[in-house]
Amino acid sequence: MPRKFLQLVGSCLLFLIVSNSIFAQKKSLAQKVDSVLHLMTLDEKIGQLNQYNDDHVATGPITLDNDKIGQIKRGQVGSLLNCVGVARTRSWQKVAMQSRLKIPLLFGQDVVHGYKTTFPIPLGEAASWDLEAIQQSARVAATEASASGLHWTFAPMVDISRDPRWGRVMEGAGEDPYLGSLIAAARVKGFQGNHLGDLNAVMACVKHFAAYGAAVGGRDYNSVDMSDRMLWETYLPPFKAALDAGAATFMNSFNDLNGVPATGNAYLQRTILKGKWGFKGFVVSDWGSIGEMINHGNVKDGYEAALSAITAGSDMDMESRNYKNSLAKLVTDKKVSIAIIDDAVRRVLLKKFELGLFDDPFKYCNEEREKAALNNPEHVRIARTVAAKSIVLLKNENNVLPLSKNTKTIAFIGPLVKAVKQNKGFWDVEVPGVDSEHIVSQWQGLQNKVGATSTILYAKGCEIEGDDKSGFAEAIEVAKQSDVVILSIGERRDMTGEAKSRANIGIPGVQEDLLKELLTTGKPVVVLINTGRPLVFNYTADHATAILYTWWLGSEAGNAIADVLFGDVNPSAKLPMSFPVSVGQIPIYYSHFNTGRPATDDKNRIYNSSYNDLSIFPKYEFGYGKSYTNFEYSKLLLSKKKIKQTESIEVSVTISNTGKYDGDEVVQLYLRDRVGSIVRPVEELKDFKKIFLKSGESKTIQFKIDKQKLSFYNQQLNWVAEPGDFDLMVGSSSRDIRLKDSFELIQ
Ligand code: GLC
Repeated sequence: MPRKFLQLVGSCLLFLIVSNSIFAQKKSLAQKVDSVLHLMTLDEKIGQLNQYNDDHVATGPITLDNDKIGQIKRGQVGSLLNCVGVARTRSWQKVAMQSRLKIPLLFGQDVVHGYKTTFPIPLGEAASWDLEAIQQSARVAATEASASGLHWTFAPMVDISRDPRWGRVMEGAGEDPYLGSLIAAARVKGFQGNHLGDLNAVMACVKHFAAYGAAVGGRDYNSVDMSDRMLWETYLPPFKAALDAGAATFMNSFNDLNGVPATGNAYLQRTILKGKWGFKGFVVSDWGSIGEMINHGNVKDGYEAALSAITAGSDMDMESRNYKNSLAKLVTDKKVSIAIIDDAVRRVLLKKFELGLFDDPFKYCNEEREKAALNNPEHVRIARTVAAKSIVLLKNENNVLPLSKNTKTIAFIGPLVKAVKQNKGFWDVEVPGVDSEHIVSQWQGLQNKVGATSTILYAKGCEIEGDDKSGFAEAIEVAKQSDVVILSIGERRDMTGEAKSRANIGIPGVQEDLLKELLTTGKPVVVLINTGRPLVFNYTADHATAILYTWWLGSEAGNAIADVLFGDVNPSAKLPMSFPVSVGQIPIYYSHFNTGRPATDDKNRIYNSSYNDLSIFPKYEFGYGKSYTNFEYSKLLLSKKKIKQTESIEVSVTISNTGKYDGDEVVQLYLRDRVGSIVRPVEELKDFKKIFLKSGESKTIQFKIDKQKLSFYNQQLNWVAEPGDFDLMVGSSSRDIRLKDSFELIQ
């Protein structure tokens, strides 16, 4: 028999054996799930769909009931949230091991921007436009959280938002679907690592599905009403990006969408998520959102709420107890098929198998590992780097920054100078036995930085809120003795976050009055603005000498701020959201339609889409952020000026660092489709590159324009690219366009 033929037969046999074993291996997970499912009573199945808050801390309105232990022993609980630490999770898991089938509990927690080592709030991290840094931040968070007994984080939050009155803007990645999608994927990859089941991986939970950030009036939990086209084009992309990145779970949202609460919305959870997108993980409701459908007026009672939610694809019930109370009756009443229950239970059991919890329910419970992970200096170093990358330089008059480390006398003034825990922002985790002293305050950061010949004077000046100006005199005296004033002002950390919407988004209290007084001393005043949202601060913007937007930067806040103030880090961050001049402009975002009577400046206000009493432009635009150096853009070249749908254009542009500091520049590429069957935005971010250039260095960078970047959802919700002319813009922000060109899509 010819050798070649024998080789072919051999390789085919090998393929069959290997594929059969892989198929068998794959099949074994599904088989294992079914082997457990077939042993379960209906009560035990419903138990897997039931999640309670631990008694440790609450992140929602708590229901006081006892007998959690008894319910867990009877297999009536599938997961606990807000239960952290090896000791505590082990104790609960031991209870679960006393149940008939010993199905392990899942432990979930909002590890949103760090666990013990806290990173900048997500909106601040988004300002870095540094996907590697963002992924690394989530990786550190997962390493610490998993070492501390957690299997699952309720993150990333990927809600697009264009309304800074909404307190939860701090949790997301801002207003843009392109940037938001890349960041969503980076965070999922960071949390889940290379493989679910690895010891340092936790399940991601993409939230809040969907369109929660478009709440009317920026009021949390409020209604959302939008066209399916807007939903698909603007609000869904980051969810799809997260799913494509392998997200294990989703969380639905509190809001109603076009009149149907997301928790009971089959279009979202069945048609889109589990249908069109083929999602195989499970959906957890948001805290109590199943029961809240009664408040929405979408269902009559808990029985109907459970029916609506389970039918619509909400698999696990966080804290509402409606599944526990009603699902069994719904099955016996033949309102819900056992097949629907089994599908939800399979999804939950599959994740527990993937995490390896059936093999070893205590695999994440190791005190030594926890101790090492929570005290890893490398995590702290990474946090400092990510924090410095998140700081946005909004203004730098007379190049007052960076300061010299030998500045003789610095007056460090303001209510946030010596704050410690404030620097964590909202959604920090209360880690047992870990106090907030491991956070570097802004005061400490400066002390760590300046030379021995420098003196730092301090005055609080005023509180964050209130009208007490009695501290002004001392602050002015301190300022008069200094060479430069640094004023640290802003919100309290709990003025953004869940249920933290504000109708007035100015800097609270008399903090800007304090700035006014300090400026009378004639000293340069560098203002640090600490907050979780875009604020309105026109006086500060127009009169401060320099401004750093420092968000809430986490554990290494003080050191990161000092690194930027004194030039050890050249700021490179860019705003991920438009900053309004006034609340009256909201919603305000860069990728708006042109309208039939476009307002193109603040001069001509006759019969066009302008305000008669206010600018139409933001105070600071999407993509804006300064550097200590300057970047010049030149040589924009397109490989083609006409392309077919199957072709692409290579775009190159040269960036030069013409200043005296090395630095990073975020080169942004925007497109405008001049004519479309659906009107197209005046510009849309379609690519960006963050590049490092030494002083005097130039680099030529490339972008690729293909059909994907030219497409949009048409009236029929098809993703299409339509022939026609496109404008191409490259710049340092959505309004600082440095170079332009155009091209045609010919068919
Ligand atoms: C909260 C939040 C959600 C969080 C959950 C658990 O209400 O809406 O983002 O993950 O409850 O804390």
